[in-house]
Amino acid sequence: MKFFNFLFSRKFFLKSKGLPKHIAIIMDGNGRWAKKRLLPREAGHVRGVHVVKNVIGLAKKYNINSLTLFAFSTENWTRPKNEVLSLLNLFDKSIDNEKDKIKSNNIKIKFIGDLSSLPSDLQKKITSVERKCKKNNGMQLNIAISYGGRSEIVRAANKFINNAKAKQTISEKLLSKNLDTYGLPEIDLLIRTGGEKRLSNFMLWQLAYSELFFTDALWPDFDESIFTNALYFFQTRKRRFGSLMDI
Ligand code: FPP
Repeated sequence: MKFFNFLFSRKFFLKSKGLPKHIAIIMDGNGRWAKKRLLPREAGHVRGVHVVKNVIGLAKKYNINSLTLFAFSTENWTRPKNEVLSLLNLFDKSIDNEKDKIKSNNIKIKFIGDLSSLPSDLQKKITSVERKCKKNNGMQLNIAISYGGRSEIVRAANKFINNAKAKQTISEKLLSKNLDTYGLPEIDLLIRTGGEKRLSNFMLWQLAYSELFFTDALWPDFDESIFTNALYFFQTRKRRFGSLMDI
């Protein structure tokens, strides 16, 4: 499979100009990857973390400014307790294991989502790694945990209401300012692995004009050839943002 991926890779057709600045990824298929191998679902998530590390390296290699990864959705809380606990544990451990490398690789890290619903120890680790890497000015890495697009928009609207002056009305600009992603560049390219072609409540506001790349590959099988195929796909798109002019 890997050999065929390599053989059909678009890597060699990529141009250095016109790469996406901001890529977001829905990492789907860990459970199915594990099931195929008669392993517990958790084994798929563990393998998924290896791929996360690899993809961060690929994003750096291809000079992507910003990478946003969907690690845990507001809906994922309804999964069996064991799976939820093992995922939270995996995030906790990954921060412990990777924080020094994130810092030394000049990566700026930000966690987005309803972080108040996470265990307090994990919240503390999140704050601490964000602070540790605050002065970094290289690639921006965003991890969405306990994240839902609708929930983010509702939280943003409430933040606005709580700080609004009398009779002030909301606008697109003011709503954007209150989103978790405020200050980050627009998402140019969304990649979803695992064969489904839907957004699953991810970045509903931010994906308005993004290009969408879907692959059947399960997240633990995601590799450089698929990543570069997605970049190539992006470079073949004509982006018009609703106007008649190609941008
Ligand atoms: C979806 O696959 C994947 C998740 C719910 C978890 C994704 C998390 C990781 C890859 C770990 C990320 C870690 C860090 C540190 C960011 P699924 O379980 O829905 O798979 P299925 O569709 O095959 O059941």
